[in-house]
Amino acid sequence: MSLNYPGYFVSFEGIDGAGKSTHIEAFGKLLQERHPNREVVMTREPGGTPLGEQLRKLLLDAPMHLETEALLMFAARREHIAQVIEPALQAGKVVISDRFTDASFAYQGGGRGLSLSKLNELELWVQERKNGVLLQPDLTILFDLPGSVAEARRSKVRAPDKFEQMDLEFFERVRQEYLRRAKEDQQRFYLIDATQTQEAIWNLLKGLEINI
Ligand code: TYD
Repeated sequence: MSLNYPGYFVSFEGIDGAGKSTHIEAFGKLLQERHPNREVVMTREPGGTPLGEQLRKLLLDAPMHLETEALLMFAARREHIAQVIEPALQAGKVVISDRFTDASFAYQGGGRGLSLSKLNELELWVQERKNGVLLQPDLTILFDLPGSVAEARRSKVRAPDKFEQMDLEFFERVRQEYLRRAKEDQQRFYLIDATQTQEAIWNLLKGLEINI
C-alpha cells in the first residue's frame, strides 16, 4: 500500500553501469515540460541533504562493518525523507530520486548478505507513516542487465568507488535482489531491459504513462 500524497515519487534503480544516470536528468526535464504547473525535484541517495552528502562520502569510500553501512544508508534516508522527500510530496511536487530503499535491499541485502528481516525492520522504522503504511515511490524504474555487461560498461568510464570495485558475483546477487523486489511489487516497478540502445530506452521512458 502506498501513501496518498498530493505529489508523485519516482525512483531510478539498477546495478552500477546499468545506465540510469544517462537518462535521469532528461526524464526529469521531460516530466517538467509535460507538467509545467508542478515543480520537479531531482535528488539522490545516499545523499540529497547536506548531512546525507557527507554520509555519502563516507559510505562510498570508507571500509566499515556491513551493519554500520546499512544503518548509515538508512540514517541518510531518514534525513532525506524529513528534509526533502516528504515536504515536497506534501506540497504536490514531483520527486525523482536516483536510488531509494530498493538499493539497500539489493546492495546491503543481496550483495553483502544482510538479512532481509533486518532490512525490513529498518525500512519500517524509517518509512512507516501510519497503520503500517510505508512511504514508497509511486513508480520505480529498474534498469536491469547482466552483471557482466554492466562491468564492461563501468570499466570504460571512471575510477571505481567502494561498491564499483566489487566482483561480478556481487553484482549478480544485487541484480537478483532487485528482480525479487520487482516481482513482489509489480504495480510499483517498471522494468527496463538495459541491454538495449540508449535510444530504445529513451523511447520507452518517453512512452511511459504516468498519472501524476
Ligand atoms: P550511484 O547511485 O551509482 O551514483 P554514481 O552514479 O555517482 O556512482 O552510487 C551510489 C552507490 O551506493 C551505488 O554503488 C549503490 C550504493 N548504494 C547502496 O549500497 N545502498 C543504498 O541504499 C544506496 C541508496 C546506494
